[in-house]
Amino acid sequence: MTPYSCMTRDELEAAYTQVLSQYDACKAQGLKLNMARGKPAKKQLDLVSDLLNVLQTPEDCFDGDIDSRNYGELAGLPSARAYWADVLGCKASEIFVGGAASLNMMCDIVSRAYTHGLLNSPRPWCKEEKIKFLCPAPGYDRHFQIGEFYGAELIYIPMTATGPDMDMVEEYVKDPLVKMIWVVPKYSNPDGIIFSDETIQRFANLKPAAPDFAIIWDNAYCIHEFKGDYVPFPDIISMCRDAGRPDMVFEFASTSKITFAGGGTSCMAASEANIQYFTGVFGVQMISYDKVNQLRHVKFLKDKAHTLEIMKRHASVMAPKFECVSRWLNQEIAPLGFAHWNDPKGGYFVSLYTMPGTAKRTWQLCKEAGVVMTNAGATYPYRKDPNDSNLRIAPSLPPVEELEKAMEVLCLSLKLSALEKLLEKL
Ligand SMILES: Cc1ncc(COP(=O)(O)O)c(C=O)c1O
Repeated sequence: MTPYSCMTRDELEAAYTQVLSQYDACKAQGLKLNMARGKPAKKQLDLVSDLLNVLQTPEDCFDGDIDSRNYGELAGLPSARAYWADVLGCKASEIFVGGAASLNMMCDIVSRAYTHGLLNSPRPWCKEEKIKFLCPAPGYDRHFQIGEFYGAELIYIPMTATGPDMDMVEEYVKDPLVKMIWVVPKYSNPDGIIFSDETIQRFANLKPAAPDFAIIWDNAYCIHEFKGDYVPFPDIISMCRDAGRPDMVFEFASTSKITFAGGGTSCMAASEANIQYFTGVFGVQMISYDKVNQLRHVKFLKDKAHTLEIMKRHASVMAPKFECVSRWLNQEIAPLGFAHWNDPKGGYFVSLYTMPGTAKRTWQLCKEAGVVMTNAGATYPYRKDPNDSNLRIAPSLPPVEELEKAMEVLCLSLKLSALEKLLEKL
């Protein structure tokens, strides 16, 4: 295959005619395929469904002396706090176990910061003339949505191969109105990048002007390898403590992609002072989270080592899907030289960079041929991709047979939009 950049006008036109007829043939099949959101597949949910059987009798519902069926223990069952401390490498006293969604707690933190302030806030954020959030991008659309919802100005920080551009982060935090940064340190959504040790150290060493500046350390994919061995990660809570800013970081994780998405448990790790503060603050709205589900999870997942075994079973379902994505892109697109993508070993996404100026058009072509993808632009603050280039592929949900079809449509749409762009320029 000749790269598009080396083709003459006649060759480009011939390629266009050929790709268009292949695309039309796919479109005529009336497909209905979805690669939009990072949802576990039914097979994955089935392989952890013994979770439903671990609490059989009233006696099973006790965590030591504590009856999980009753009110109390707002910060979480002791065994659930110990479980998350094991997974994240911090102390149990630095863990608050929440409900089914870590995103819910992230949003709650911003909400309380806005109305009442964080532990070290001089005033609630609603009383500031303005608040600004740093948003490394491409990133997780729902992080940006929370910032937008609370009226924060979202500042775009480019991602690099080792994490966010830390020179920019260090510069921006000199502004006291910069209150927050949102990051996914391991298998970032969507790039699948693991932050380097240096990046993580620079985060812990940040000296922001705002005394209540907060890092949202969303460790959603902390143990989610689908290829190769588990990659350890450092404990950001003790790193911030050692660097003299213990209250600056809030780390999040959940079992959404370990057990049931939307039916699992989540946790927040933070300094003991923050855990105390938020136990008080959340206590206004809540007497107890679902401790029955917490206990069910602890009994089923046991500890980090056992959970990593379960993650290997998830990996056996996930890996063929990521291989399918890679194979299509490597065979159909790589030789044409107009796009690039990441090849992650964990997480839930492949981040694809189309020819600049064609992501929206590619998305549209996929949609018209029956393949739904995450909206082009969604991975950037205000949904504005400066290069109109990034698309997030979420291959986990469809079975491999469907994925093969969806990838065929995506590759044809990529080629078609690139050829349209090139011909338009001639
Ligand atoms: C980076 C990231 N954080 C959080 C979530 C949602 O997690 P939860 O189900 O615990 O709210 C997702 C889900 O896709 C995610 O990708």
